[in-house]
Amino acid sequence: MSAAREPIGVIGTGYVGLVTAAGFAELGSDVICVDIDAEKIARLEAGEIPIYEPGLAELVESNRSRLTFTTDISVALERARLLFVAVGTPPTYSGDADLSAVHAVVEAMPASDRHALVMKSTVPVGTGRAIKRLFEEQGKPGFRYVSCPEFLKEGTAVGDFLRPDRVVVGDDGDWAGDAVVELYRPLLDAVAVPGEDPLDGLVRTDIASAEMVKLASNAFLATKISFINEIANVCEETGADVVEVAKGMGLDDRIGPKFLNAGIGFGGSCFPKDVTALKQLAGNSGYHFQLLNSVIEVNELQKRRVIGKLEKHLGSLVGKRIALLGLAFKPNTDDMREASSLVLAARLQAAGATVTAFDPIAAEVARPMLRGVVLSDDAVSAVAGADAVVLVTEWQEFRELDLGELRGAMAGDVLIDGRNALDASVAASAGFRYEGVGRRPQAPSLASTA
Ligand code: UGA
Repeated sequence: MSAAREPIGVIGTGYVGLVTAAGFAELGSDVICVDIDAEKIARLEAGEIPIYEPGLAELVESNRSRLTFTTDISVALERARLLFVAVGTPPTYSGDADLSAVHAVVEAMPASDRHALVMKSTVPVGTGRAIKRLFEEQGKPGFRYVSCPEFLKEGTAVGDFLRPDRVVVGDDGDWAGDAVVELYRPLLDAVAVPGEDPLDGLVRTDIASAEMVKLASNAFLATKISFINEIANVCEETGADVVEVAKGMGLDDRIGPKFLNAGIGFGGSCFPKDVTALKQLAGNSGYHFQLLNSVIEVNELQKRRVIGKLEKHLGSLVGKRIALLGLAFKPNTDDMREASSLVLAARLQAAGATVTAFDPIAAEVARPMLRGVVLSDDAVSAVAGADAVVLVTEWQEFRELDLGELRGAMAGDVLIDGRNALDASVAASAGFRYEGVGRRPQAPSLASTA
């Protein structure tokens, strides 16, 4: 058996599990995908992809012959020795991660000396140690464990899998860690800088450190976003422009230009959950992680600042009609988890406004979460008769909107650009009172007085 073509099992067919499965199939592995949700498995069997992720349907389709979908974990155990775990670890009321799905997988494992669990799900530091202890207690001491955290971004997950900027493998230095490294080797080779060792992109370490790399990376990126959002807020008070500031900061290669886009807060299934989980993990072990409290608080306040901006222009929002462009937590996904639009829509309704909205992809997922919000089929219908429009998610099609047409459809002239995605001067020329996040106010000659 060629190590690079080793068959694998993937438990959990959410976006991490499916991308991992399709990606390894693309590299030549037979992949047995297991999920407890029979309906999901039936849909996958029928060639339907239950989530929107660019390129994923094509990748699954072109590797269909190497992908098996089943609810029966024994099929995976029979055919594969490495079982990648990609089940959900949502936050509980206490902020700790809910590990019940992970524990169900551990329980389902038989005593074996030839299998390993490879943890892709984001778990608290110490989970690997606890699972190994459980294996011992359950009389399965030979079952191996590897932490292999996932760094995929929704919307670009397929590319992120095929061109990883690093692979992190935490293990006890046994066959299982070696086998995981071999699986990733073609990807490490593909992204290696010519003349340099492909294994430079690999961090092979102990289990706890690998677990911490994941949490610390997400917490750091979230910190970067909350930091630039606070800079943006100070820019608004001082007349500086955060886009210029971020550009100037980002050219310092110790800082870097990425994740310095000010906006209306981060959302999604990862940052809010992982920042809280790390804060909680620290707290449980007796350490008060002061910085992360602020990162979370700044993010919550950032979502609500839009209300203040609308009130500044419109006065009371009672009876006002406000249109939201974009609902998903970021472009190129239909994921609504922790989306800023949810908080914004609820705050606007609580303030007495009527809320309309349009999202190119996420509308159906969003519908049950947005009671009372009128969902439209396109941007122009969403803004028809609106007093103000708020750009919430920076979909490419919104960047290309005819702002004159948009303005013409509205009753009012207020445009709040929550992602700094539009050209302020074009918006002003179209007759909008434009306000971004941390942007320099428009020169009076350009600003509309309508
Ligand atoms: C994030 C990480 O980027 C991935 O590396 C990680 O694997 C993933 O979480 C995970 O743990 O599974 P994702 O949640 O898909 O990926 O989304 P990001 O692209 O990181 O964006 C997160 C949020 O931050 C979005 O709401 C986005 O609008 C916001 N953001 C991002 C900003 O407000 N400003 C920025 O400059 C960048």
